[in-house]
Amino acid sequence: MASWIKIIEVEHIPSMGSRVVHYGEIEIAIFKTRDGSIFAINNECPHKQGKLSEGLVHGTNVTCPMHNWDIDLKSGEALSGDSGCTNVYESKIENDTVFLSL
Ligand code: FES
Repeated sequence: MASWIKIIEVEHIPSMGSRVVHYGEIEIAIFKTRDGSIFAINNECPHKQGKLSEGLVHGTNVTCPMHNWDIDLKSGEALSGDSGCTNVYESKIENDTVFLSL
């Protein structure tokens, strides 16, 4: 059963950027959008495993730095006619700290 795990303070995630955390073997990219929303997805593009944490954040999407696929941070789905999906994690913020359901 999943439980809420304390991950990082919100202020340590750059706006329109990300921070990478490791949970066991899993590498998770925690993104902060311009409006301060937080999204957590596997740091692995569904195309050829590009590091999404190094991509460009726009709106609630990130553009993979490898071949420019756009990935929806809410669903992990590839957009614009590309197909594939990377895992997303439920997140919440309490006391200015990000928690993930893992
Ligand atoms: S690896 Fe991300 S677009 Fe190709």
